[in-house]
Amino acid sequence: MSRKILITGGAGFIGSHVVRLFVNKYPEYTIGNLDALTYAGNPENLKDVEARPNYKFIKGDITDESFINQLFQSEGFDAVIHLAAESHVDRSIMDPLAFVKTNVLGTAILLNAARNNWKEKEGKLFYHVSTDEVYGSLGETGFFTEETPYDPRSPYSASKASSDHFVMAYHHTYGLPVVMSNCSNNYGSHHFPEKLIPLMINNIRNNKPLPVYGKGENVRDWLWVNDHAAAIDVIFHKGRTGEKYNVGGFNEWKNIDLVHLLCRIMDKKLGRADGESAKLITYVKDRQGHDLRYAIDATKLNKELGWKPSLQFEEGLEKTVDWYLENQEWIDHVLSGSYQQYYQQQYANR
Ligand code: NAD
Ligand code: DAU
Repeated sequence: MSRKILITGGAGFIGSHVVRLFVNKYPEYTIGNLDALTYAGNPENLKDVEARPNYKFIKGDITDESFINQLFQSEGFDAVIHLAAESHVDRSIMDPLAFVKTNVLGTAILLNAARNNWKEKEGKLFYHVSTDEVYGSLGETGFFTEETPYDPRSPYSASKASSDHFVMAYHHTYGLPVVMSNCSNNYGSHHFPEKLIPLMINNIRNNKPLPVYGKGENVRDWLWVNDHAAAIDVIFHKGRTGEKYNVGGFNEWKNIDLVHLLCRIMDKKLGRADGESAKLITYVKDRQGHDLRYAIDATKLNKELGWKPSLQFEEGLEKTVDWYLENQEWIDHVLSGSYQQYYQQQYANR
């Protein structure tokens, strides 16, 4: 069956893996990748698929209401997979309103365009990609299930929680066919080096301090990004409309233990003496309002749709380290403002 799918945020970390999976696996689908190319978006992430006949890049901002309405009218999408967002918690603490604008207003504008353009609801779907951070922070025990009440605690998670509520409100009020997933921390290739794992890899390589927030005792549940993309694929095709699904790695790590593991892997890869990289660990001031622990119970997704993570963490981390060591040029590009400007110009007229 042919479908016309709008993927938002496809030039970012997770979005680029989702776009690649859909373009390769479903040649009968047409994939439009709408992305504003903020600092986090990089069309280079999709070099391998950009010439495919079933792929189209669309530069644009989800907060531009008239642009989005025109796009829906002219393209006639029958589904949306919405990933575009401001995604970094530390940035949300510095500039919360940017997160309200993109994550809340941008999502509402997309929902409204879908509502106005999808007169016939049969065969339509709005898939919203969200985070486990909407559930707040766990203590030493317990897991987030789909029934856990929302308790967002950072401007980022508050903006994502708000967008989740809008998605469900459009379903209940207007009958918009929606599905949603809330995922734990992803890791893998093309992850912007402001986030813990790629930042540490880059700093270890360059012999720079490894900034561990607080005592490093906060816990995150890590999932390989390709496994998240596979979950999105199965939920998009088989998930029940109006439902939400938790996605997680069953893979909890204290930050400090994870950083030590990375140091050990990097010592081997770089031919350093055992323990050499760990000397770079530097404890720094804690993140404000730092959530202690996230852990996802993904039983519903496993039982209903048969999804489970495919990769052991140590293996995934080693693959990730290898990718960063082989792609220093990518790191240099994404960290260079002039490179971003260059690409903004490249895509300005598309
Ligand atoms: P990212 O920051 O790597 O990518 C975000 C993308 O959105 C970028 O390409 C950026 O250019 C684009 N974008 C930002 N503002 C835009 C706007 N106004 N209009 C159009 N495009 C815009 O983010 P990510 O880590 O890939 O996360 C993708 C989605 O998945 C987000 O919704 C995030 O909340 C969610 N999520 C992320 C994780 C994670 O661990 N990274 C986990 C669970 C859920
Ligand atoms: O749980 C899903 C969320 O995971 C996503 O919704 C977010 O988009 C994504 O950015 C991620 O949020 P985190 O805040 O958990 O990820 P981050 O990589 O920023 O931090 C992971 C942990 O590491 C967190 O406890 C803070 C800590 N940290 C982070 C950085 C960048 C450090 O100790 N030092 C650092 O330099």
